[in-house]
Order: sequence, then C-alpha cells, then structure tokens
Amino acid sequence: MKLTARTILITGGSSGIGLELAGQLLARGNEVVVTGRDERALGAATHRFPGLHAIRSDVGEADGIRSLYGTVIARFPALDTLVNNAGIMRIVRLAEDRALEDVTREVDVDLNGPMRMVQQFLPHLRSRPDALIVNVSSGLAFVPFPISPVYSAAKAGLHAYTRCLRVQLDGSGVTVVELAPPLTRTPLFTDEFASHMNGQKGMAVDVLVRRAIAGIEVGRTEIRPGQSNLLKIAGRIAPGFIFAQMSKVGRT
Ligand SMILES: NC(=O)c1ccc[n+]([C@@H]2O[C@H](COP(=O)([O-])OP(=O)(O)OC[C@H]3O[C@@H](n4cnc5c(N)ncnc54)[C@H](OP(=O)(O)O)[C@@H]3O)[C@@H](O)[C@H]2O)c1
Repeated sequence: MKLTARTILITGGSSGIGLELAGQLLARGNEVVVTGRDERALGAATHRFPGLHAIRSDVGEADGIRSLYGTVIARFPALDTLVNNAGIMRIVRLAEDRALEDVTREVDVDLNGPMRMVQQFLPHLRSRPDALIVNVSSGLAFVPFPISPVYSAAKAGLHAYTRCLRVQLDGSGVTVVELAPPLTRTPLFTDEFASHMNGQKGMAVDVLVRRAIAGIEVGRTEIRPGQSNLLKIAGRIAPGFIFAQMSKVGRT
C-alpha cells in the first residue's frame, strides 16, 4: 500500500509522533488533517508545515467525535485514512486518593477514543477504495508497565480491539494496521517519564515514523519497531522475567 496521494486524518497531530507523521506524509504528497485540544499547538503545527490542516477536537468526548466527523467529511470528502494516534500517559499510584472521574482518563482517550472514531468514520471509509485505519498502541500493549497501570490496560485493550477489527474487516477493502511504538523521544515521554528511565533515550521520532511508513508500505499489519518487538517476544518466551524488569521502574 502506497502512502501517497491520500487524504489522511491524524488525531493528536499537534505534537510528537502525530506531528512528525503529519510532516512526513505531507512531504509525500498527501492531504493531511490533524486534531488536538490545544488551539495554540495546532496553530504552531500549521505554521511549521504549510499545507497542513488542523481542527480542534477532543477524542475523549463522544460529541467531539460526532462534530469532528461532520467537519472533516464536509471539508475533506476524499478522506481514506484514519490514524488514531492521540494519547495520554500518566504515572499513577493506585493506592492514592483520586476522583472516580479521573480514574479512567487514559481509557477514555487511548482506548474509547479510537473505538468511537472507528465507529463514526467506518461507514465513510468503507465507501472509499483502499482505505486504511492505523491504531497507535504501544510496546506496553504486550507487557504492562506497573507505574502506568491504566495506560497499560488501555493499550492492551487497543491491541486486542485492533486484532478483532482486522478480522471483521477482512475482505472489506479497509486495511487495519497497528503501530506499537517503543519508547520514543516526544513530549509525552520527556515530560513525566524521563527521570524514571535510567538514561534510556528512546527512539528518535523521525526514525520511528520512517519505520512506520515503510512498514505500512510493505504490507505489515502490526509494526513493532525496536524495543516493542523485544517486548512482544519476551512477553511470550519469558513473561515473568520481562514483567519483573518492567516492575523495577519507578520503585522508590
Ligand atoms: N512517546 C512514546 O514513548 C510512545 C511510546 C508508545 C506509544 N506512544 C503513543 O503514541 C501516541 C502519540 O504519543 P506522543 O508520544 O506523540 O505524545 P505527545 O507528544 O504528548 O502528543 C500527543 C498528541 O495527542 C493529543 N491529544 C492528547 N489528548 C487528546 C485528546 N483527548 N483529544 C485529542 N487529542 C489529544 C495532544 O494534543 P493536545 O494535548 O493539544 O490535545 C498531542 O497532539 C500516543 O497514543 C502514545 O500513547 C508513544
């Protein structure tokens, strides 16, 4: 599948992996639309990449997704590619007090968001030839990371959902790809996690995105660059060992 001359919607495209993906896909002659919650970040993205379109939208809100759909289909009826990339990751101490509304925030954005986006956009995508859905999960979909328990649960859920979606859409003309990034140098990683990672630098975001695009173009449906592949293999052949290693991170 060639990633050229497409019309692509990327959720969470104002920063990190989504922004880099937007830049590389624009450079390949695609029409690209990004979303995010922060208007200023979206403005900075369109300033950096002339030709990029931006729409303010919160993937954690069902109403936001309905309204995004109306706007996108009216302005970009040739839409044939959906990249569910928007995500948040937090360090969560489960024994600490938290409002119940806050407990499932990562699930709302990282899992419910993509599932609702697929529900809303699938009829349109099915009407387009050679459509593509890319769900951005994580290497942590394969082995949970105890300092980020809700995120790990959301990404494992997204992995399971994506596998099921691929089976159900087999033969429909819609290709379903999972991109499971490893630790990647973006604001998500650098802000909260860097101090826990014992000097691990993570993959450069431009390298990650080049590998993702190359993987899609050669027909891979589960793309696991670098350590994500190791996590998947270790999670199968030595699950206790790799989980014990992940459990050491952030222990005080
Ligand atoms: N970086 C890593 O090490 C790593 C590893 C594995 C997987 N991933 C996954 O890769 C994806 C991108 O992460 P990143 O590292 O690029 O993070 P990032 O730099 O923090 O970017 C996240 C993007 O998502 C948007 N976003 C967050 N919540 C949103 C919401 N409710 N609705 C719409 N947009 C929202 C953000 O914009 P606003 O805040 O303005 O909304 C931003 O554009 C995520 O799904 C993440 O879980 C990242």
